[in-house]
Amino acid sequence: MAAGVLSAFPLVPGLAADPPPGVAELVQTCASCHGPEGVSAIVNTPSLAGQPDIFIQYQLVFMRDGTRQVEVMQEIAKNLTDDNIRELGAYYSSLPPPSAQSDAPAVDAGKVNAIISQRHCDSCHKEDFSGQGETARLAGQRPDYLVKALSDFRAGVRRGRGMGTMMEVSVTLHDQDIQMIADYLAGKP
Ligand code: HEC
Ligand code: HEC
Repeated sequence: MAAGVLSAFPLVPGLAADPPPGVAELVQTCASCHGPEGVSAIVNTPSLAGQPDIFIQYQLVFMRDGTRQVEVMQEIAKNLTDDNIRELGAYYSSLPPPSAQSDAPAVDAGKVNAIISQRHCDSCHKEDFSGQGETARLAGQRPDYLVKALSDFRAGVRRGRGMGTMMEVSVTLHDQDIQMIADYLAGKP
């Protein structure tokens, strides 16, 4: 039966699913910063499309309870209900992830791979950096935001899930390492 429905109404490629009615209005607000299809065009503002559902939900809860302080989102986050958060997680995780940032500068892949394999980044973020569960997708993310996130973890400004692992893996990174990792991940499809 499902196949019949699908062939009668073929999905138009590139057209994002409509947000669930409960959060349709909210999503318009989110879009002004995170982009209409969850792909951000604003510096230091992350793309959300294709992030794991659970990761999005956790971050929204952290922002609502103030564990993660994002000034520009504070007013919005504190009014989110649990249902809003579940629907926003389901919606943004269902959108097609950003494509590899084509203007990411070429990096010394050997050097980056050494840093990444020493710190087992791929064991949590997955080999293709698409993320899983509470762990973020990194592939195709804006490089400026990746630099900001890693610098915030390194400085202890942002604390996340899991006993500060992100702080542990970033504390020994130099600025050049962070920039190189960010350019490498941004260029990943
Ligand atoms: C005024 C701009 C603005 C609006 C509106 C906004 N955000 Fe954000 N959001 C940001 C910025 C900037 C960050 C990154 C903060 C940081 O650097 O830690 C962020 C971070 C996030 C994150 C964490 C993502 C990650 O990769 O760590 C999620 C999830 C998120 N926003 C969801 C939403 C949702 C859902 C809405 C609408 C209900 C929304 N935001 C509205 C600016 C905004
Ligand atoms: C033990 C598992 C683990 C390892 C190893 C790990 N990460 Fe993470 N990473 C996480 C989790 C979990 C989060 C979400 C943290 C939070 O809740 O704020 C995260 C978040 C991030 C973020 C923020 C993404 C966003 O959208 O906000 C970046 C960037 C990141 N990791 C990069 C890396 C890099 C680069 C490495 C290797 C140097 C690495 N991670 C190693 C588990 C891990």
